[in-house]
Amino acid sequence: MGRPKANKPRNSNINVRLTAEERATFDDVAADLGFANVSEYIRFLHNQRVGETVQATAAEDFKARYPKRLIRSFHKTRLGEMIWGDSRAYLFNGAKPDSVDLIMTSPPFGLVRKKSYGNEDADEYCNWFRPFAEGFKRALKDDGSLVIDIGGAWIPGQPTRSLYHFKLLVMLVEEYGFHLCQEHYWWNPAKLPTPAEWVNVRRVRVKDAVNTVWWLSKTPFPKANNRRVLAPYSKSMQDLLRNGYVAKLRPSGHDISSKFQKDNGGSVPPNLLAIANTESTSRYQEYCRDNNIPIHPARFPPQLPEYFIRFLTEPGDVVLDPFGGSCVTGAVAEVLGRRWVCCEMSEEYLDGALARFQPSPVPLLKDRPASYEIAPPCAVPVDDADTPLFADGGAKRPPRVTEEQAEPKPKRRARAAV
Ligand SMILES: C[S@@+](CC[C@H](N)C(=O)[O-])C[C@H]1O[C@@H](n2cnc3c(N)ncnc32)[C@H](O)[C@@H]1O
Repeated sequence: MGRPKANKPRNSNINVRLTAEERATFDDVAADLGFANVSEYIRFLHNQRVGETVQATAAEDFKARYPKRLIRSFHKTRLGEMIWGDSRAYLFNGAKPDSVDLIMTSPPFGLVRKKSYGNEDADEYCNWFRPFAEGFKRALKDDGSLVIDIGGAWIPGQPTRSLYHFKLLVMLVEEYGFHLCQEHYWWNPAKLPTPAEWVNVRRVRVKDAVNTVWWLSKTPFPKANNRRVLAPYSKSMQDLLRNGYVAKLRPSGHDISSKFQKDNGGSVPPNLLAIANTESTSRYQEYCRDNNIPIHPARFPPQLPEYFIRFLTEPGDVVLDPFGGSCVTGAVAEVLGRRWVCCEMSEEYLDGALARFQPSPVPLLKDRPASYEIAPPCAVPVDDADTPLFADGGAKRPPRVTEEQAEPKPKRRARAAV
């Protein structure tokens, strides 16, 4: 089982007295579970145990564990504040209980073991998240919402996915009592096909183009209004509104009544949020480049917090981003007239975030595409016989094909007439 290298040498030993049988079962179980050796296995068991202890820590202990001295005010604007330091200290010693209307955030995906997301890491991830979960419950109002954007991850070395973000969701609901209002999917139409090995080279997986966004709340009825986030009507709906519709029963059995002719200003959006994250020139980036500040590598596109802030908060409400990064949430909240707090551990990221507010807050994007195109599945007809499956599921790399060896492109399947 791959583990990142320890940043300190592991040269300290302890002796454990075992019988020969015990020793054999340790070796067997460690090998069965995929650990490289017994040390790895014992370390894993220990980490699990430590995680359970964190789970048992009461909220009051978190108050002592994350004292106020771990945070300090970094910068204030008309409506908000950037806080430098560990947001757990803010959650337990800064924010008042039941004071926040929306927590809009994107936690680090791989903090526990960098670049490793096996499913045992998923348990570690959940344990790491526990103090935040407890702090979110403390700070959030009963009618407030918690929105967590969290990308999926591949298990290193094989074409399968980690369950860590699903485990996090289950933990938040089953252990901390949050309600899952609705999952959203952020589709990034500009996402590159990764991981290249499985998608482009071995061709056994497809492009991973969505992030899950968990919308949760303390009660089943957080305040919300989908009329705040309408999507433009499609061309056919516009025609329908213009030309009228004959009320009738659809083949599906749905009764399309004349109510469908009412212009509501736009249609109710789906829970698939199409937002291309392609920003390459912006005031933020220019400022970072000019001042030799690292550009945050995992920034929100502003439309993501904008959607949830509009949908779930009123002007004057309080929005908190406990993993603030380059403070996109704060900047969007400021423009939308919401009060806000962003906590961030890295001072450099906050240095860069200043550009979002100076000399004045960056306005929201005006020119946004009315729609993106996505093809229905199997829109390119391909003949099965010319394109056999990889029977080994991609376990081995296909041999490189030179140009001379290359076969003609697979014959296209004739489209059946509809
Ligand atoms: C995925 S990034 C968030 C990026 C942000 N949404 C943006 O648009 O720039 C997560 C951030 O959380 C910060 N972080 C991790 N642990 C933290 C903690 N305990 N308190 C405050 N910030 C933390 C990391 O430094 C990182 O910048």
